[in-house]
Amino acid sequence: MKSHISIRDVNAFYNGHQALKNITVEIPQKKITAIIGPSGCGKSTLLKCFNRLIDLTDGASVSGKIIVDGIDILNGSIDVTDVRRKMGLLPQKPNPLPMSIYDNIAYGPRLHGKPDKKELDRIVEKYLKIAGLWDEVKDRLKSPASKLSIGQQQRLCLARGLAVEPEIILCDEPTSALDPVSSQHIEQGLLKLKNDYTIVIVTHNIHQAMRLADYVIHLYLGELVEHGPANDVFENPKEERTRAYINGTILSDLKIDKEVDLKGNICPYNFVLAKQALHELSKGKVLKLVVDDPLAVTEVPRGMEADGNEVLSVKQINKTDWEIVIQKTE
Ligand SMILES: Nc1ncnc2c1ncn2[C@@H]1O[C@H](COP(=O)(O)OP(=O)(O)OP(=O)(O)O)[C@@H](O)[C@H]1O
Ligand SMILES: [Mg+2]
Repeated sequence: MKSHISIRDVNAFYNGHQALKNITVEIPQKKITAIIGPSGCGKSTLLKCFNRLIDLTDGASVSGKIIVDGIDILNGSIDVTDVRRKMGLLPQKPNPLPMSIYDNIAYGPRLHGKPDKKELDRIVEKYLKIAGLWDEVKDRLKSPASKLSIGQQQRLCLARGLAVEPEIILCDEPTSALDPVSSQHIEQGLLKLKNDYTIVIVTHNIHQAMRLADYVIHLYLGELVEHGPANDVFENPKEERTRAYINGTILSDLKIDKEVDLKGNICPYNFVLAKQALHELSKGKVLKLVVDDPLAVTEVPRGMEADGNEVLSVKQINKTDWEIVIQKTE
């Protein structure tokens, strides 16, 4: 794995509150790295260090090194414009410039050079195609970008970011404001782009991280808990906190189709009642059971699995009660 961004001992503070604590990690080149972790753990802060947007926050300070192409971009004497040009940012909510679709894409290239009309036409078409928007807008390039749907605006922002030819694409929750179909467009775009770019994506959506990421960084309260190839982290996390975060997030996204309280029952009945409850559900549906018989905590999941169903979680919820979540797969 070739590293593209080397983060060494990075600490970040907002007016004395420490948002990142001694972060040291490598971001691989031409791969998708997902930064995951609960709200407030420092994901956006880390991303903002990469493009030095953190400089624009009052009271923020950063120490340590972030080496990109051999240069420490946190070094005060380097040109911040160069850093930002290397790092295309795809924001959470699309922010098209108040101009035409065409001019949104042409804006950066015009700023950085003096391409002629023909060259600009070529650039606009190229990046709109890469972002998967060309076919939808090719007949109205001169109309205002603000008239596009939100999902189209986000693809426009992706195209605009790419048009200045960054090496690295930073995405902070790039699909959280989008509907599922638009999200899928963006995800497909990012997957295509990873052959040519290093991509870092912050996401709350663990399923999205699983679909996209080659590499995962898990932050918790400003600390690096775990990092590694996505398969290892998702399937076999080294840290209990990572396991808990992944399972917890998956389950909080999960729709429970039926909930049955089996408290007060003892084991063989628990099993029979659980089986009955599951029987009434169709395939793929999810059942949550609450039990307080210690034997049921092991026997019910075992029986359910023997019947070919999938036990998604078994969790103690208070001193006496346990929650068992089962998906009917038979
Ligand atoms: N401008 C700021 N001033 C003061 N504190 C801030 C500022 N921005 C962020 N913080 C604090 O720094 C910590 C990390 O914030 P950050 O935005 O990086 O978290 P995050 O992981 O991106 O969270 P979320 O998932 O909610 O976007 C939090 O405790 C947050 O309250
Ligand atoms: Mg954030």
